[in-house]
Amino acid sequence: NKVYVGIDLGGTKILAVILNEQGEVVRRAETATLAKEGADAVIRRMIGLIRDSLTPELQLVSIGVATAGTLNAEEGIVTRASNLDWNDVPLGRRLEQDFGVPVNLENDANAAAYGEWAVGAGQGTKNCVYVTVSTGIGAGIVSGGQLVRGRDNSAGELGHITVDMNGPRCACGNVGCLELYASGTAIARSAAQRAADNPEQAGLLLAKAGEETLTSRHVAEAAAEGDQLSIQVLREAGLALGNGMVSIIHVMNPEVIVIGGGAANIGAPLLEPMHEAIADRGLASMRNGVRFVSPTLGKEAGAIGAALVNRS
Ligand code: BGC
Ligand code: NA
Ligand code: ZN
Repeated sequence: NKVYVGIDLGGTKILAVILNEQGEVVRRAETATLAKEGADAVIRRMIGLIRDSLTPELQLVSIGVATAGTLNAEEGIVTRASNLDWNDVPLGRRLEQDFGVPVNLENDANAAAYGEWAVGAGQGTKNCVYVTVSTGIGAGIVSGGQLVRGRDNSAGELGHITVDMNGPRCACGNVGCLELYASGTAIARSAAQRAADNPEQAGLLLAKAGEETLTSRHVAEAAAEGDQLSIQVLREAGLALGNGMVSIIHVMNPEVIVIGGGAANIGAPLLEPMHEAIADRGLASMRNGVRFVSPTLGKEAGAIGAALVNRS
């Protein structure tokens, strides 16, 4: 029984799926990433997770790993993953040595794009863009029926395109990056700032957070109950997201854009201003043809995509 392993290495969880030759998920497993323990410990946990999910009758063909950040795919190295604080970690090489099968590193959003395109919300299209709004903002592009990987499987860094040339500096080195304005992290940061500046308007939001650190989920919950401060925060993030969408629509001319990550859960307070910005700024003939859809593979999109992309 030939099987293909797909891994999604996230900031908090490592998710594994095992696909059979038909591309169906036959097993799934997950464990905590615990990035603070360092790259070696994370890799050991990943190896353990894969070992535990394989049984003797399964013949492992390949491993695909989806991870945020930039890669040297040829050498099997994660060059920079800010969510894990990794620099030049030879993840692919380690797995190859351990399992003796080909290992392919794929950017997380690119892998999710491939998964959603091949077997999810983008199925049947030729030109599909996947955008995830989570801790960061990432994108994956399928163009003419091909995943656009670039030289190093790192293409599609939508989160690090400039939306404000005079904006603050991003950890990536650029300034005014989209993810400084529209990621989950940015939404939480901007809400906390506004709450500190206007404590008299922040009651509902702070009640949502309670003892916890304020996150974009709290902002979304408060906005859903009509909290004006939260609605304003999400509106600004949504307008910035719309700017990013205009850029990727203009560059890639997609039929479909799948919006994944936490953004889908936030819904209208983020997506309506996003659509406003697109309607206001996008080239009409290009933007009008785009269908915006929700993902169907959920949190497994990256792992499934990473496994599938090696099969074909
Ligand atoms: C990273 C991307 C990633 C995205 C979503 C960004 O900060 O640069 O590589 O796809 O976050 O995880
Ligand atoms: Na990408
Ligand atoms: Zn950046």
